[in-house]
Amino acid sequence: MKLYKLSPRNVALIDTLFITLVFIAAYIIISLIWFDLTTEPLLISLPFVFVANFFIIRYSFNHIIFDRIKLIYKVIGRFPNPKEKKKKSVNPLETIQEVVYQWSEDKNKEIKELKRMAAYRREFLGNVSHELKTPIFNIQGYVSTLLDGGLEDDKINRKFLAKTEKSIERLINIVNDLESISKLESGEVKLKANVFNLYELVEEVVDFLEMKAKKSNTKITIKPKLPVPFIVKANKEAIREVLINLVDNAIKYGDKHNNIVKIKLYDMDEKILTEVTDNGVGISQEYLPRIFERFFRTDRGRSRDQGGSGLGLAIVKHIIEAHRQTITARSNIGEGTTFSFTLQKV
Ligand SMILES: Nc1ncnc2c1ncn2[C@@H]1O[C@H](COP(=O)(O)OP(=O)(O)OP(=O)(O)O)[C@@H](O)[C@H]1O
Ligand SMILES: [Mg+2]
Repeated sequence: MKLYKLSPRNVALIDTLFITLVFIAAYIIISLIWFDLTTEPLLISLPFVFVANFFIIRYSFNHIIFDRIKLIYKVIGRFPNPKEKKKKSVNPLETIQEVVYQWSEDKNKEIKELKRMAAYRREFLGNVSHELKTPIFNIQGYVSTLLDGGLEDDKINRKFLAKTEKSIERLINIVNDLESISKLESGEVKLKANVFNLYELVEEVVDFLEMKAKKSNTKITIKPKLPVPFIVKANKEAIREVLINLVDNAIKYGDKHNNIVKIKLYDMDEKILTEVTDNGVGISQEYLPRIFERFFRTDRGRSRDQGGSGLGLAIVKHIIEAHRQTITARSNIGEGTTFSFTLQKV
């Protein structure tokens, strides 16, 4: 029987039996020699003495020694293997040091993560207030001008009211986007999966953005050219939002004079891969890893001119990840950008 394979409870039991037998032996010797007892009463009393001894010793093992054995067992993980001992001796102190070192390493990591989250939260709150402030101050400016006599001036009253309406629209968009993000992040919204033809959805999105594309000299193509069923299992409305965001970006940040947006669908083994490519300004390698962060914009001026707040891609990433799928971006400055995402095929 190998001791190192025994559990602490069994070790305690064997020790109890051993000590009990020692006590019994002592009892027999003392009874025979010291008290000069005959064997008969001795034999009768033996079982009682054995049982009593056993339970008394067992009790003390359970409550005093067994707990200690358990602690040592916990620290070194197991009883040392005598064969291993020859190769490398296990020093319990070193093991305790290792455990404490590992614990402090884990705690350090947790503290770093908490600090990073706190900085992220601060930056996020700063961004939210900054984004909200801009349209609010604009509205305040327009309303003041109108109240200070602008209302009677036919040249500016309609113009300023229209501007106010745009700023309110912008505020609503930001608040809606923030709401979508926080719902997705908290897992509050459960995206129900539908089975649908992705090709048809792409066509619907292209139709929806047709006017905007025309205004910005953008030509949108879909490949394959002929409608082929690309049946996927995903939340249709959420994927519509993904496509609108990506195609909208490709129009906004595309080449100003001759922008070509290509949407390509690929049938992979178990997935459908969708790519949205433009030939616009591109994104530098430095900014590419941050592109899906909330409020991140490579060119704040240009993005704001386009009515953007830098939340679109953050929402897109959340949606794709909620489907347990991936989205990536590749780009070269001045050449264009491609966003690719996968969806589960049926
Ligand atoms: N196709 C693209 N080409 C070049 N830059 C892009 C492209 N798509 C996104 N970007 C950059 O990434 C930033 C973040 O995009 P995102 O869609 O999140 O925000 P937005 O378009 O500025 O605003 P929103 O989508 O919230 O209206 C953009 O501001 C832009 O700088
Ligand atoms: Mg966008």
